[in-house]
Amino acid sequence: MHAPTALFSLVAVASASKPLRYTVPSSFKAAASNCTLPAEFEVTDFTTLTNKNGTLSTVCFQFSDPDTKIQTTCQRNSTSAASGPSKNIYGCDNANIAFIYQTTGVAGLTLTERACPGGSNPQFEASGLVTPGLDCADTPTGTICHAEQKSLQGDFDSFQPIPSTAPTRGVGRAWRD
Ligand SMILES: *[C@@H]1O[C@H](CO)[C@@H](O)[C@H](O)[C@H]1NC(C)=O
Ligand SMILES: *[C@@H]1O[C@H](CO)[C@@H](O)[C@H](O)[C@H]1NC(C)=O
Ligand SMILES: *[C@@H]1O[C@H](CO)[C@@H](O)[C@H](O)[C@H]1NC(C)=O
Repeated sequence: MHAPTALFSLVAVASASKPLRYTVPSSFKAAASNCTLPAEFEVTDFTTLTNKNGTLSTVCFQFSDPDTKIQTTCQRNSTSAASGPSKNIYGCDNANIAFIYQTTGVAGLTLTERACPGGSNPQFEASGLVTPGLDCADTPTGTICHAEQKSLQGDFDSFQPIPSTAPTRGVGRAWRD
């Protein structure tokens, strides 16, 4: 009985499986007309390791976006380089995805996904927050924590221009006319 509605929405909005929780700026609407915008995401197997001295040493999880079909591993460890003005943004294996994990300020796990990657200027990214509840255990070298839930669902609820100065992986691709 929902077939006519479903058919209509497939034709009218091929971009996402659920309504976007942010407003697409009019300057980006043309660029967005041909691509799938990030609407929601799933974080699986979220794990952190903390040293004896309380320093966060590792953050690791799987990211997936059911609409853009991006699936990637996200990991921050002793060899990871942070970027951004606060040096707290870490890249995932897929260069269009990045994350911030912090326990103060905007506490939780913020994911960002580049919208319509490879398009022309301006570049935008969607972002959203999940707050994993942690189940922790002490080990000889520190503390290991797992999210209480194996998978966490998040919504992208912000859509912002990517600062052109941001040193992200994936810059340097040639502009196409
Ligand atoms: C969308 O895709 C079509 C076909 O590939 C192309 O002709 C058109 O220029 C694209 N529009 C934008 C805004 O990129
Ligand atoms: C905390 O301990 C780790 C390893 O045990 C060490 O690499 C790190 O420098 C220490 N950090 C601080 C702030 O003491
Ligand atoms: C550290 O994280 C990077 C990804 O940021 C990964 O390629 C590398 O294998 C990790 N190193 C260790 C020792 O797990």
